[in-house]
Amino acid sequence: MKKKSFYNVAVVGAGAIGQYHIKSFRKHPAARIVALAETSPERGREVAGRFGIPDLDTDYRDVLRRAEIDIVSIALPNYLHAPVALAALQAGKHVMLDKPMATNARDAAKLVAEAKRHRRLLMIGQNQRFAPTVQTLKQLVDRGALGEVYHAKAAWLRRSGIPRIGSWFTQKQFAGGGCTYDIGVHVLDQTLYLMGEFEAAAVSAQTYAKFGPRGQGDGSWGKSEIDPRKPFDVDDFSVALIKLRSGRTVLLEASWAAHQRVQSSNGTQLFGTAAGATTHPPRLFRPGRKKYTVEPLPSLPPLVSPDRMVHFINVLLGREQPFVRPEESLAVQKILDAIYLSAATGREVRLR
Ligand SMILES: NC(=O)c1ccc[n+]([C@@H]2O[C@H](COP(=O)([O-])OP(=O)(O)OC[C@H]3O[C@@H](n4cnc5c(N)ncnc54)[C@H](O)[C@@H]3O)[C@@H](O)[C@H]2O)c1
Repeated sequence: MKKKSFYNVAVVGAGAIGQYHIKSFRKHPAARIVALAETSPERGREVAGRFGIPDLDTDYRDVLRRAEIDIVSIALPNYLHAPVALAALQAGKHVMLDKPMATNARDAAKLVAEAKRHRRLLMIGQNQRFAPTVQTLKQLVDRGALGEVYHAKAAWLRRSGIPRIGSWFTQKQFAGGGCTYDIGVHVLDQTLYLMGEFEAAAVSAQTYAKFGPRGQGDGSWGKSEIDPRKPFDVDDFSVALIKLRSGRTVLLEASWAAHQRVQSSNGTQLFGTAAGATTHPPRLFRPGRKKYTVEPLPSLPPLVSPDRMVHFINVLLGREQPFVRPEESLAVQKILDAIYLSAATGREVRLR
């Protein structure tokens, strides 16, 4: 990768997350947002105007043709992630792609191969693992403070948090999957990162849709577009037992809607031979000299910038090493595929 002193960024998709991408890249003095591609002309004009972005297109391919653009940052509905990222890599751009990487592992593998072939940076927006507490816990795990970490619980459970019922989020043809793709992916990625192992050997899972099809469990991510012609055909709850290649295990739970005591709970719990730990709240628990102790995590300097876009630019500048590697995101995608396959077939899915 040839280093430059500043990078021109084009953002594709100006929804809530696209606007977050814009704000985030603007924090780095070596990044300049020069273009926005958005199919809705009104939204495009409003967002480009608000952030002073000089070039606005409705067709993302116009952005890819422009030689001065170095980075394409993708914040689109899930079914467009892989095709747009592939086209951007083929056009020689570095790609920041929001999660999930794709809607199947075959497409995700193509992205990994294409990034390698063109020697371009490809990173998936797994922002949870950038959190300072997660970076601290990772350092404790790697220093052996927990002993052997043999099991983890990963959960993101919302009581009522379906994003926009009736929108692309709740239709399989556009989203690929429901809460497992939307929030399960975050805690799964975070947990595998903490365990230092991404490749799974077997997955046994079940998915449910108990609230969304009845128009219940709506969340606060924009306005629902309830329309009987748009079926709710994704999961609003899922559970999976994941056996890693080493034999260690992860229990993953995700829900957009479920009866539970709190509105939302989210995090990883690690079970080690010397200690246990949670990310939310950030605590370490282990036997002390006199009694069992539960302590806050110490404060350690982060490994990389906690902002994923700032980190992305730092990697291009040669200041930081890639924190989310595409091969890891591909392994996560394979587990997501296996969760849906196991739920559909009623069987454990073995992964090579
Ligand atoms: N990392 C995170 O924490 C996080 C959080 C929420 C959402 N996301 C992900 O971000 C992505 C976007 O989510 P969102 O909530 O912003 O969705 P959104 O529906 O609000 O925004 C998507 C935007 O893309 C535009 N669009 C659609 N097709 C297009 C095309 N071909 N070319 C250009 N623009 C097009 C739409 O008009 C819309 O403005 C999703 O994949 C979601 O999973 C990530």
